[in-house]
Amino acid sequence: MTNNTRFTKGIKRQSAWDLADNQVTPESVFKDRRNIVKALGLGALGASIPGYVQAGLFDFGSNKSTSTFATKPLQFTQPKAFVIPESLTPENKITRHNNFYEFGTSKQDPFDNAQAFNVNPWTLQIDGLVDKPITLDLDDLTKRFALEERRYRLRCVEAWSMVVPWVGFSLASLLKEAGVKSSATHVAFETLFDPEQMPGQKNRLMGGGIHYPYVEGLTLEEAMNPLAFLAVGLYGKTLPPQNGAPIRLVVPWKYGFKSIKSIVKIRLMDKQPPTSWNQLASHEYGFYANVNPEVDHPRWSQASERSIGEGGLFSAKRIPTQMFNGYGDEVAGLYKQLDLRKYY
Ligand code: MTE
Repeated sequence: MTNNTRFTKGIKRQSAWDLADNQVTPESVFKDRRNIVKALGLGALGASIPGYVQAGLFDFGSNKSTSTFATKPLQFTQPKAFVIPESLTPENKITRHNNFYEFGTSKQDPFDNAQAFNVNPWTLQIDGLVDKPITLDLDDLTKRFALEERRYRLRCVEAWSMVVPWVGFSLASLLKEAGVKSSATHVAFETLFDPEQMPGQKNRLMGGGIHYPYVEGLTLEEAMNPLAFLAVGLYGKTLPPQNGAPIRLVVPWKYGFKSIKSIVKIRLMDKQPPTSWNQLASHEYGFYANVNPEVDHPRWSQASERSIGEGGLFSAKRIPTQMFNGYGDEVAGLYKQLDLRKYY
């Protein structure tokens, strides 16, 4: 999510929408790329072409056009509280414009490379500071909790956005079932680690330099907020792999990188857990990551965003970004004591 342009204070910030998808790449990975280019004897070429073209040299995608992963229809209610005025982003955009670095760093890589992802069997463990550790299997994910559809805005830190009809259940309902001990202050999440299935976990370049497994975290208060959601489906069916099958977090007032995919572990803790993007570039990606149009990314403005449903990443049209992604009424109270410039 960083690009290959060095961050230089005082130089005009680039707009994220000026960046090619493959430019949003951590600097460490860009350096690796240059080394590989050199090793292949492409030194002169490698030095002169932009990072996104170099990334193209290592495009592991197979450009598949059809989805072969089987999704299943789900039963759910549609509470009125979560129907929003914005129109939904078309399904084929939600499922073909993804960030899931375990399957590659370009937006189409997850679709191209995840179709054979095997989610059966699946185990999600909830443990740590709980009265009753729980282990859920694949069936439990769609049967144990009453499912509902929620239409949420999703705002990526790269300044693009979508409106997604998720299906799932509140994170709080799961945590309540496990019984959170009074000493717990934070919740840690972990994605599956399976390099045989997730090529980005084997190949540092393809995986964007992240140290896997991908990990994320919330404060306990954030996790218990009614908006924090565990999605098991979208557009009425179980999740496709590129969107985080079989279960992923959705925290709509935070930048998308908090919404960790394909979760296998949820642990209650008494300290702030490490988070993947913060580990990789702490000056750019904080623990809180609340959507905030007033606090820019060091290299681009966060004041507005491209709506992926409306013209795509590079269209001229953009929409203003809302504080807490428009969910301030529900969550602003969580941060009353916090300096949001310092705790970005
Ligand atoms: N979870 C894992 N495990 N790996 C990832 O690379 N990318 C994050 C988040 N969850 C990511 C992840 C980012 S940066 C975003 S913006 C959202 O997933 C994108 O979700 P989507 O592809 O369903 O739109």
